[in-house]
Amino acid sequence: METARHWWKECVFYQIYPRSFQDSNGDGMGDLRGIIDRIDYLVELGIGAIWLGPVCKSPNDDMGYDISDYQDIMEQFGTMADWEELRDKLHENGIRIMVDLVVNHTSDEHPWFMAARRAKDDPRHDYYIWRPGRDGREPNNWASFFTPSAWEYNEATDEYYLHLFSKKQPDLNWHNPAVRREVYDMMTWWLDKGADGFRMDVINLLCKTPGLPDAAGKEDMNGYVFPSEHIANIDPVHTYLQEMAREVYADKDIFTVGECLFMDTEEGRRYTAGENRELHAVFSFSHIDMDGQLEGKWYYRPWKLPELKARLTRWQDEIGKGWLGLFWSNQDQPRALSRFGVASGPYRMRCAKMLGLVLHNLRGTPFVYQGEELGMVNVPWPSTDQLRDVESLNFAANCRRTGADESFMWDALHRKARDNARTPMPWDASENGGFTTGTPWIMLNPDYPEVNVATAREDPESVFHFYRRLIAMRKEHLMMPYGKFQLIWPEDPDIFAYTKTLGQERWFIAANFTDKTCERPWPDKVGEPAELMLSNICDRNLPALGRLCLRPYEGVIIRCGKKA
Ligand code: GLC
Repeated sequence: METARHWWKECVFYQIYPRSFQDSNGDGMGDLRGIIDRIDYLVELGIGAIWLGPVCKSPNDDMGYDISDYQDIMEQFGTMADWEELRDKLHENGIRIMVDLVVNHTSDEHPWFMAARRAKDDPRHDYYIWRPGRDGREPNNWASFFTPSAWEYNEATDEYYLHLFSKKQPDLNWHNPAVRREVYDMMTWWLDKGADGFRMDVINLLCKTPGLPDAAGKEDMNGYVFPSEHIANIDPVHTYLQEMAREVYADKDIFTVGECLFMDTEEGRRYTAGENRELHAVFSFSHIDMDGQLEGKWYYRPWKLPELKARLTRWQDEIGKGWLGLFWSNQDQPRALSRFGVASGPYRMRCAKMLGLVLHNLRGTPFVYQGEELGMVNVPWPSTDQLRDVESLNFAANCRRTGADESFMWDALHRKARDNARTPMPWDASENGGFTTGTPWIMLNPDYPEVNVATAREDPESVFHFYRRLIAMRKEHLMMPYGKFQLIWPEDPDIFAYTKTLGQERWFIAANFTDKTCERPWPDKVGEPAELMLSNICDRNLPALGRLCLRPYEGVIIRCGKKA
């Protein structure tokens, strides 16, 4: 094994989007008590840790990713006592709790920013990034993620502040040592409280190119340019993360995973495998960004299986001694099944299992995003009134203002809106899926009467039970986290196949990504089929010698004998 053993490599994480998991008080919004009430479900799934989405005080311009108090709980979600109870009950059940750390920016309602914006000579002013205007306009041509400009004018100081996300999310100035001190102390406070780790929001964007030069790419519909080359992996971000690790967690058995955008494998290694380890793992978006064009995610670019395989393989091959968080989806992505598989028809649930089977055997730690284990899909949004996300709403408003084609707008929203993944967990077929007794903050996926936890529990062939098997297998087989990956048939347009090798043992994993039956000669170099470890179709047998036949969306794990 080229890598040390750790608990966080050997378990599966489950991502909870608190607003949409379970409401306990009828206000239409999920809360901490709701999660406490559902711990049995997490235990039944068998996961070892949760990633809890942001629950700190927030005006919710970006659903909790705009924090106004890092050491208090958002009223709608409950109290600190609820958080502590959740922590205790999870721990009693052997489940760790990883919290969301959002420190590239704060809310504009955070006391730091409220002071900062009042006067240039306030000590908090330098906690943020300010520039004078240029020719009566923004200081540069940067677009924000949520469009249009990345700058907002502040009258009191006659300057603009930088916000890579919404204008209610001003970016912190990480070059100010006082900012870093505040953040490290706050992190230590959460660890002292019993958090077992941090998922670090856009952590590789903390530093920006000095001088903040104009971005060079293609203008968007508002005439701004997205500055990816000036915001990601810019020096001295590694130095700051080393400092953070040293100051906060180097000597603790916790887990940190960085959400890193616009990152290549070399950077990924620096974050996770450098001499002074910065993070334990990273989320790479290379397989996710595949279906967007340069102008951004809304501009769809069709993808093909060989490209998906190549992108995942590159990370498998090149992360070295570092580590990956593996995922098909999260709260910012469309539902995986709609994006990488089939969202309707007879193969939907089979395909959901196949995706799980492929992901969980890659090298890294799998993250299951809530509802993925039910085979949830994107939502047929009837109108923009049902959308809640600032990114979707800004995009729709921009499209309408600039006269963009309605069909372009709708295609983009149906494919990519983050709202798709944020609809409430459907627990059963009752009204509002058992999520709330009130009015849900966002509509449920209309298929909830069929696709819900209660139905899935009763069906031994459900995606839910298949995920339970996958998760349980990881506890028995070090192969899943640690086996060495090798891609088979890179150019095959229909089948994703790879081997895992650990010591003398070898597994062959193969999945048919099409709705046709596919047959291939058995790849000699993997060894002879010895045992069927798992399949997503219950009547599957060990393949006959010499050939592999996979039905539509069929996936298999086969242990292979050593070739003489
Ligand atoms: C991350 C979060 C996303 C949020 C953004 C700004 O990408 O995952 O939900 O909008 O950062 O905090």
